[in-house]
Amino acid sequence: MKPIGIISALPEEIEHLKSGSLETVEVCGLSFHKGKVDGRDAVLVETGIGKVNAAIVTTLLIERFDCRGVLFSGVAGGLDPALSIGDVVIGKRVVQHDYGRLQNEKLITFQPGAFPLPGMDSTHGFEIDDALMARAEEALDGVALKGLDDVEGAANTNPRVVFGTILTGDSFVNCEVTRQRLHDNFKAQAVEMEGAAVAQVATQMGRPWLIVRCLSDLAGAESHMDFNGFLSVTTENAASVTRRLVEAFD
Ligand code: ADE
Repeated sequence: MKPIGIISALPEEIEHLKSGSLETVEVCGLSFHKGKVDGRDAVLVETGIGKVNAAIVTTLLIERFDCRGVLFSGVAGGLDPALSIGDVVIGKRVVQHDYGRLQNEKLITFQPGAFPLPGMDSTHGFEIDDALMARAEEALDGVALKGLDDVEGAANTNPRVVFGTILTGDSFVNCEVTRQRLHDNFKAQAVEMEGAAVAQVATQMGRPWLIVRCLSDLAGAESHMDFNGFLSVTTENAASVTRRLVEAFD
């Protein structure tokens, strides 16, 4: 079978998924590691941060490495007060929240590539298909995540996995007012900087995609501190879910 492309933005995110012997191929200054994840052929790559990096890598995984699907594994800021650091969100719908039209100092979001002008269709977002979601749910049965019981201010002894809306934009959200606005406007669970770009490219190229994000922070004023403090455990939780989800592409 053709390999699955596994993408992360940061070395900490991809490191948990590397195991066994890997063959490394350099393309455009990026290292693509061919190996196995959960017994299936995979190509693992660290993109660096942001939508353009994610788009370059997704294109290369599909064009050069003939990947049959792509999965992003990493961390995100939480937007939904019902969720805690350590919980994992899988994108049922992913939206580029920073593409659109600025009008009266407000951004009106459009689907990437659409003319963001008045009167044009402003529906947006990419959704995973129902069959893939059903297989993903099945594959996750009994998955074990690491709790954050020993960390003051972030007790989450029993982290959970939810399907939801993930927002993508080229800014790290370190602001409570913005967190609230994004949650109110999009009813979203998490915000990150690559996922919906991966989904856009994969959709255009006719390949399935999954976005897996463990919450490393809550996107407010403390998010930069939490992000660093919880990176080790949250990247591990994202990787645990990712290992399970590889089979959903079969
Ligand atoms: N990735 C992890 N935390 C994030 C945040 N607060 N904003 C954007 N991307 C993130």
